[in-house]
Amino acid sequence: MLRNFSVLGLLCVVTSGAARGSCANCCAKLASSLPGKVFSPDSAAYEASLASYWALQEQLITPSCIVSPTTAIDVSTALKIIVPDSCKFAVRGGGHGTAVGVANIEDGITIDLRGIDTIVLSEDKEQVAVGGAATLGDVYTYLAQYGVSIPGARAAGIGVGGSTLGGGFGYFAPSQGLAADSVAEYEVVLANGDIITANQQSNSDLWRALKGGGSNFGIVTKLTFNTFPLGEVWAGDVFFSVSNETVQSTATALYNFASNPDYDENASVFVLYAYQNAPVVLVEYTYTAPVVDAPVFDEFEAVPGQLLNTTAVTTIPTLSASSQAQSPSGFEQITFAMTFVNDEQMILEAYNIMIAASSKLTGVAGAAIGLTLRPIVPSMIRPDDVLGLEVPAQGLIQTIGSVQFNLTADYSLMNNVADQMLSDLEAAAKRLGVYNRYIDMNHAKTEQKVLEGYGSQNYELLKAVAGKYDPKGVFQNLMPGGFKLLWVEFYILAPFDSSDH
Ligand SMILES: Cc1cc2nc3c(=O)[nH]c(=O)nc-3n(C[C@H](O)[C@H](O)[C@H](O)COP(=O)(O)OP(=O)(O)OC[C@H]3O[C@@H](n4cnc5c(N)ncnc54)[C@H](O)[C@@H]3O)c2cc1C
Ligand SMILES: *[C@@H]1O[C@H](CO)[C@@H](O)[C@H](O)[C@H]1NC(C)=O
Ligand SMILES: *[C@@H]1O[C@H](CO)[C@@H](O)[C@H](O)[C@H]1NC(C)=O
Ligand SMILES: *[C@@H]1O[C@H](CO)[C@@H](O)[C@H](O)[C@H]1NC(C)=O
Ligand SMILES: *[C@@H]1O[C@H](CO)[C@@H](O)[C@H](O)[C@H]1NC(C)=O
Repeated sequence: MLRNFSVLGLLCVVTSGAARGSCANCCAKLASSLPGKVFSPDSAAYEASLASYWALQEQLITPSCIVSPTTAIDVSTALKIIVPDSCKFAVRGGGHGTAVGVANIEDGITIDLRGIDTIVLSEDKEQVAVGGAATLGDVYTYLAQYGVSIPGARAAGIGVGGSTLGGGFGYFAPSQGLAADSVAEYEVVLANGDIITANQQSNSDLWRALKGGGSNFGIVTKLTFNTFPLGEVWAGDVFFSVSNETVQSTATALYNFASNPDYDENASVFVLYAYQNAPVVLVEYTYTAPVVDAPVFDEFEAVPGQLLNTTAVTTIPTLSASSQAQSPSGFEQITFAMTFVNDEQMILEAYNIMIAASSKLTGVAGAAIGLTLRPIVPSMIRPDDVLGLEVPAQGLIQTIGSVQFNLTADYSLMNNVADQMLSDLEAAAKRLGVYNRYIDMNHAKTEQKVLEGYGSQNYELLKAVAGKYDPKGVFQNLMPGGFKLLWVEFYILAPFDSSDH
């Protein structure tokens, strides 16, 4: 497979022929300490775990064994075996990540957290404690019965843990901030197996670092969110027939929407410019109250050429399920992210860059590419997270690239298509003077330097917190998947020595 982690071959490695057995010893120890919770290749539970990843490239990675903890103590037990033996591992939450090897590992141990999924609402309904791999669909559905919600990501199958560790932009960001901003407390299993809680009073540096810092500090087994009251919403998609006029008027409407000084915090919109056999223009609306066609959307609603309009009064569980249904699993998926200062010319350039890339799709089975443009407005920003977002009055436009196709054989071709779009977007933004350093971890491409994009102060904070809670750099060295602090440097500073434990 072309997805190979160069530096990682340092630990727990043998020659490729025997590769699947390279962590056999770790797997055997895990199986005896966690009976019934460790699955080897060819078992039904192992196959089912792999089949449940969203992206095909993650499904095709074959770990030496899969550990399936159901409690924080199980996770602790697993780390106390894996770490002293220097076995490589991956941590899987909702399995919706797209970066190479983000939540699965060839010849290593994959810790599949899906058994840690309880959802407990406090008596006053003001907080909900959610297991580290509960899905957003389950959380939204549970909370809707009580008239409350949390500001999480959109599609139902996404893991609360993974998406919240990366920030988490969703339906409610304009009024509630990001998912990470609503977390009052995390329960975390550290590299040495200690189970600790982090909140504003206790381990507050870790609490802050987890608000966007990803999987660099520990395995999160519980997240306690502050809830907010929520009833019905108005939402849906409008597809347009594509003409120059549609593209121009959606670009103008998006610019004006995101730069509106009287931004309506119940409203959110994103514009998708895509290509799947033909160009596609789509606007997705959400209004977090049951108000049909709120005036804030007037300019979008005046865009000519509506083909299909699914907007309706609905609920978040329904919306989240339909968002998932529109994004089926089992395809090869490459995503990337970049951000620019809201600018109409740049929005049009994004469309043109996407169209230019579409010329490369001929002959690629099931090929679809898209750029989703999502406003980041000042009301989304909260002081506690580590994303370092600074939003000018006209807003930022978060740009998510996606490249989907059927066959592994097309991976390197399509990887080039993604790289070309990303570098063209970055070059255009720099040329127009609207480049912004923020990169959304939840959609970043493998090689993108997400954490550096949080600004040097936040980056230094993240390194200090990692050094304090994980002095050996276990989450950089033994767990390569995801967006990491300088893990090679950590390795040099803190080599593994099993006699330490
Ligand atoms: C259809 C679709 C829609 C999406 N919509 C949105 C959206 O609206 N907003 C948004 O922000 N993102 C969105 N995303 C992106 C999504 O948030 C990321 O892919 C996220 O990383 C998924 O988390 P996961 O737990 O499902 O994935 P996984 O692939 O299981 O995990 C992702 C990363 O998080 C780590 N991780 C997961 N759980 C834990 C844990 N408990 N402790 C420590 N590390 C953990 C994993 O090791 C891995 O590095 C969407 C993705 C898809 C496929
Ligand atoms: C937009 O205009 C350009 C030239 O002005 C033309 O080449 C292109 O085909 C038009 N696109 C659409 C979708 O009409
Ligand atoms: C947003 O919706 C809530 C709930 O209906 C409502 O109380 C609030 O006034 C709305 N905000 C705006 C700006 O309209
Ligand atoms: C959806 O279609 C209806 C009926 O044509 C129209 O009144 C409404 O404005 C449309 N909504 C949007 C968001 O475009
Ligand atoms: C791509 O895969 C999908 C889902 O399996 C299938 O429906 C479609 O026909 C495939 N496309 C091509 C061109 O092979």
